[in-house]
Order: sequence, then C-alpha cells, then structure tokens
Amino acid sequence: MITPGQTVGFGGFTVSGFPKAISVALGERAAQSDFRIRGFCVTSGPTVETALAGVLSFRCPYQANARTRALINSGEVEFLDVHLSHLTQALRYGFLGPMHWAIVEAADITPDGGIVLTSGVGAAPTFCAVAERILIELNRCQPAALHGMHDIYSPADPPHRREIPIYRPSDRIGETLLRVDPAKIAGVVESEREDDGVVFDPPSDITRRIGWNVAEFLARELRAGRIPPGFLPVQSGVGDVANSVLEAIGDHPEIPAFEMYTEVVQDAVVRLMMAGRVRFASCCSLTVSSEMRREVYGNLDWFRSRMVLRPQEITNHPEVVRRLGIISLNTALEVDIFGNVNSTHVLGSHMMNGIGGSGDFTRNAYLSIFTCPSTAKGGRISCIVPMTTHTDHSEHSVQVIATEWGVADLRGQPPRKRASLIIENCAHPDYRDALRAYLRFAADGHTPHTLDEAFSFHQRYIRTGDMRLGRAAVQK
Ligand code: COA
Repeated sequence: MITPGQTVGFGGFTVSGFPKAISVALGERAAQSDFRIRGFCVTSGPTVETALAGVLSFRCPYQANARTRALINSGEVEFLDVHLSHLTQALRYGFLGPMHWAIVEAADITPDGGIVLTSGVGAAPTFCAVAERILIELNRCQPAALHGMHDIYSPADPPHRREIPIYRPSDRIGETLLRVDPAKIAGVVESEREDDGVVFDPPSDITRRIGWNVAEFLARELRAGRIPPGFLPVQSGVGDVANSVLEAIGDHPEIPAFEMYTEVVQDAVVRLMMAGRVRFASCCSLTVSSEMRREVYGNLDWFRSRMVLRPQEITNHPEVVRRLGIISLNTALEVDIFGNVNSTHVLGSHMMNGIGGSGDFTRNAYLSIFTCPSTAKGGRISCIVPMTTHTDHSEHSVQVIATEWGVADLRGQPPRKRASLIIENCAHPDYRDALRAYLRFAADGHTPHTLDEAFSFHQRYIRTGDMRLGRAAVQK
C-alpha cells in the first residue's frame, strides 16, 4: 500500500514502541527494488535502523544509530534536525508537507476503536491526526496491561490554543487511549517482536565524578535556598553520561526524593523509582535496557501510579517546562569558554544524533545544566574549546557547566568571567594553558575572540589527530 516517495510517520520513540514488523518488511522491499520513502521518526533500535537504512531518503527529527549517522553524513539520507517540541505543530501547520501514512504500534485495540500505545509515545497522536491513512501494528509482546500508562493530549492550534493544564508532573490531562478516525485505518498487522534494549556502559570513574560534581552543586543550591526544600522536577538527557549523573543525584544523601518531568526515562530513573528516590516520572518513552523493561512490565500495576507516558509535544513543552521549574541536565559534545554548547555536530560538520529535546528544556529550565567529560577520544579532544564549531544552545540559555574537574556556575557572570570559570573549573589541566593563552591574546571586545585562532584546537586535531600542542606525532 505504501508507494515510493510517500511520507510516513513512525510512532514510538527511541528503541521503544517503534512499529517493527512493518519497518522490517519495508526494508525487505527496498532490498529487492528501488523503493525509497520519507520518514518522520525518532531513532529506533538496531533491528529497525538496519531495516530502514535502505528505505528512508529523508528523515526527521532525531537518530542515534551509527549506520544511520554514516548515511546522513555522506549525504545519502537528508536529515532535518528540529526541536522535538516543534515537530508536531510544524506538521499540523503544514510546514513539513503532507503525511501519507502513520504507522503506530499498539498493545491493544479496544472494542470502540481506542489504541493502547506501547512503551514510547513520541509523536504518534499527531502522526495519526495529520496522516491520510493509518496502519496499526498490534504487538502481542507488548502487554495489554499498558492501558492506563498513557496520557494522550494534543493542544489546539493558534489562535485557539489554551494553556496546557499541567501544574505537577503527575497531572493527567488527556485520555489513556489514542483515538483516531476509524475511516483512516487501512490495516492491522499482528506481530510478536520485542523492542531492542538500550545497552548502557557502566559508570566510569569520569562519569561518576561528573555526577558527583552535579549532585554536590545541587545540594549547595538546596542549602542556599535557591532550590526549594522539596526539590524541583528533573529532566535528564540521553546517553551514558546522563544516566550516570542521574544515579549520582539519586544517591546524594542531602537531595530529597524528587520527581522527573523528562523526555526519556533511562535505566537510572527506574532504579531510583524502585529505591524510592524518584517519586514520579513523566516521560514520552521508556528508553531502557531489556532487563529494565522486563522489570517494568512485570510490575505494571506498581508503575502505573508512578509513571505517565505522554506525547513528546507535552513532555517537552516550553510552557510546562518553565511553569514547573525544571532542573535540566543535558550533555554537550563541546562547550566554548563563553558557555555556548554544541550537542550535535562533530567538528562543526558531522551530525552525531540531533538536538532532540535538549533545546526545549534548556531554554526554559529553572536551572539549565550541561555536563560532559573534559576530553574525548583518550584526551586527544578537549571538550572545552575557544569557540564551538556549531551552536545548539547559546550562552544566553546555558547556566551551569560540569565536567569531572568541577562546576562553572555562569549565572550572572559576564563573558570574561564566564571564560575564567569554565577554563579553571571545567577544562582538563592538559588544555588549560592553551585556553588561558587564547583568552589573553584575544583580549579585545565584550566577548573576546581572535577569529584566526578561534578554531585552532579543531584545526590542530584535523592536522595531527590531537588538540594538544606538541602531540603532533600521535596517530589520527
Ligand atoms: N568531539 C568529537 N567527538 C566527541 C566529542 C567531541 N567534542 N565529545 C564526545 N565525542 C564522542 C565520544 O568520543 C563518543 O564517541 P564513540 O561513540 O565513538 O565512543 C560519542 O561522542 C558519545 O560520547 P559519550 O561521552 O559516550 O556521550 P553520551 O552517550 O553521553 O552522548 C551526546 C552524548 C551529546 C551525543 C548525547 O547526549 C546527545 O545526542 N545529545 C543531544 C540530544 C539530547 O541532548 N537529547 C536529550 C534531550 S531530552
């Protein structure tokens, strides 16, 4: 039914709730014929990404798969990197063209036609609303008891939009079922395919130290009365660093049990919920390992009152993020000495994953924190650089930087002071002299830069394989 050149919105979010059987079938079809379509989807697990690698000529809005990344960077796949909270309204406004198909995974379909979504909601409600036709993948591996975990709500479009009435992370404002126009349903495919699990690296000494620095910083804020005694809802980003940072916050004796208002729930959140350290989690996806998924699915009655799965437009909505006073914790690839953050582009050109929801949260948070190790690739790359080669989050939105060496609290600090704080507290000692020298020689202007030298660290890395001075012989 799906014809070449059509646009498809795939429900689910990260490894969770992606329609797997239809995706794999599309991959088989593409392997036999010249069949390419356009896809709106948030990255999936290796099984689906491998299948879709030959299928999608265009994709939006996020991916985190090595093979897909290579196709995007070689130009074989066009990639549109947008804020996740913007995607759905941009589709409804017609900014992104027509959508021919929505494909969504269901744990169950009720007699009156309601769809029980599975472990990742993503943009499924909007895809079903804007698509011309809908395919449902009814997955018997997903428990029907997931019914009740979801809160499906779509805001009206301007000029009729009202406030989104979420005042606490646990507030429910929509329906537990996804309602679609039955006339649009073109078919139901039954399947029995499990989601791939996420594989997290165990915390390293470095990620533990980053986590400890963030947790200590938050405890100090609590003591100073700048965070209320009951704490504030936390958003935590994707990846290994984010997972470790959250573990550290959860383990800190001075930080009370807290709530999450976040996009993805990774393993650390589930562990902290079971330990009573996270009281409630609002998210749009259970981005967990297979082991953790079994844990949640085995205890759905317990989790149902402690967790809600919402559309990404709501989990990441700037209005709600600002109102709730979120503490946002996201990860940077590189940070410059003035606090601009690059989360997406290696050397300014090569897409890593995409901005995801990091901008939705950072710009609107009560306290926006970025973490990263001070170096990458065995010390050959400094993650603190004179100027970021791409900027996702500007110095105006970024309040705190933390690496394994310490924390730079940038709030209220003008550019030169920000630079000193970042260099002295966060940069790796191997790079501090070179960063100090850059700042000294670039002494002119409000935000001092020497444009000839601004990318000297990156250029040295391209030339020699090492950003450190005098390490030219190191293999690239
Ligand atoms: N230059 C080049 N490569 C770098 C780098 C830099 N400055 N900093 C890190 N890297 C590389 C690492 O070496 C690693 O490479 P590898 O996969 O070959 O080992 C890779 O980037 C990932 O780094 P890692 O330290 O393992 O980080 P992570 O798993 O915690 O992910 C991001 C970090 C930034 C890629 C990830 O958080 C992301 O995609 N963020 C953007 C989206 C987002 O924040 N979403 C959350 C919103 S809710």
